Amino acid sequence: MPKKLDKKPKKTVRVNKAPQLLRGFKDILAEEQKYWQFIRKTVGSFVSGYGYSEIGLPILEETSLFARAIGKQTDIVEKEMFTFADQGEGSITMRPEATASVARAYISHGMLNLPQPVKLFYWGPMFRREKPQAGRYRQFTQFGFEMIGDINPVIDTQLITLAYNFFKQIGLSQVSIQVNSIGCPTCRKSYREELVSYYKSKRKMLCEDCKKRLIKNPLRLLDCKQPGCQQLKGEAPQIVDWLDDECKEHFIRVIEYLDELDIPYVLNPYLVRGLDYYTKTVFEIWPSEQEQGSQSAMAGGGRYDGLIELIGGRPTPGAGFSAGIERIISQLKEKEVEIPTENEPQVFLAQIGNQAKIRSMILFEKLRQENIRVVESFSKDSLKSQLELANKLGTKYALILGQKEVIDGTILIRDMESGVQEIIDFNKTVNELKKKLANHSTI
Ligand code: HAM
Repeated sequence: MPKKLDKKPKKTVRVNKAPQLLRGFKDILAEEQKYWQFIRKTVGSFVSGYGYSEIGLPILEETSLFARAIGKQTDIVEKEMFTFADQGEGSITMRPEATASVARAYISHGMLNLPQPVKLFYWGPMFRREKPQAGRYRQFTQFGFEMIGDINPVIDTQLITLAYNFFKQIGLSQVSIQVNSIGCPTCRKSYREELVSYYKSKRKMLCEDCKKRLIKNPLRLLDCKQPGCQQLKGEAPQIVDWLDDECKEHFIRVIEYLDELDIPYVLNPYLVRGLDYYTKTVFEIWPSEQEQGSQSAMAGGGRYDGLIELIGGRPTPGAGFSAGIERIISQLKEKEVEIPTENEPQVFLAQIGNQAKIRSMILFEKLRQENIRVVESFSKDSLKSQLELANKLGTKYALILGQKEVIDGTILIRDMESGVQEIIDFNKTVNELKKKLANHSTI
């Protein structure tokens, strides 16, 4: 016998749930903007100072660009790309980095006809479907400097110097520059064989990921953070011992130039980087010697002499680096670096009564046109709450316009720190304010 249904079917309740921020993505709120502006402005002076031109690059590219440039066996291409089919037009990917796009643009626009090296700068969001954790986002912002068309080791040193000077300039002079050479494909081939044979004998002691790396991407074995694997790398063969004469000479020159320029660095034989296009010099900038590893690296780069050819161009050398803004900001906060605040409001314009409100709205426009950083709260009527807001915003002065002042053709100017108020001629507001602000900024 069929069971009697004694329960009423459950009502489906539609919950009006607000959409959530995606994991690994982040909003950049008003209070954080000063860090972004500070970095953008500082890096801007390096772009012009070192003779780079900015290039704007698309966020979407053909998937094959990244597969060929970064390497099919890398973590980025294998599991971290946001890739989708473009409605019958092939596979496209949200760029996980920008060096491949710079190389593509160099070929697309025939930049080999320009005076070499071509020096390009970019700034923008990158996308990697990594496991979100501290300092690791799925959308993050990089700026980068690339120099294409010159094989000279002086280029590598210049890039490291630029990066170091940038970090010094923003107040992070304790950074640690990690440098290595991973040679060219020829010397790397024999090194890889040696490395595989060493690790094969220790296979049982390797973590599961490293067992896979042994087959797919043996150089990344040196990067593993597992304590067991860390111990093994101490005895592993080092690539510097396998460099051919040309690669060795190149590396020695880079190091010599760094010494001459007094740039501090650490030779790190285990630094291999996670992208396949590198040749010869590779480097990373860590917050300090102690805060090491790819998760806290603030910048990374190196030479990529085979990249342009790899994606279909003529053989053309290149080198560059990029830096992660979110990680830099987190360091600026951790090290309590004081950020210059140039855009803070200077004056609050308070008003009481309808006539005063109208006059204030006109005065506000005038002050703004005179480049005085003025703020207001025209929707508020109470003077007390307007002055409270002025206090909160930290303006040096408040202008107060009430019914009496409108009739008298005056305005009050109040020093927010001392509370001293002065009556001035309404028509002289701009000049008086400018004088006071000029005096204030020289104190
Ligand atoms: P990369 O080491 O993959 O190199 O990234 C450079 C920097 O981007 C890192 O040092 C880090 O600061 C930041 N970054 C990377 N992934 C994340 C993430 N998931 N979350 C937050 N920040 C991240 C490159 O991208 C190469 N294109 C660098 C280069 C330029 N090589 C030659 N030219």
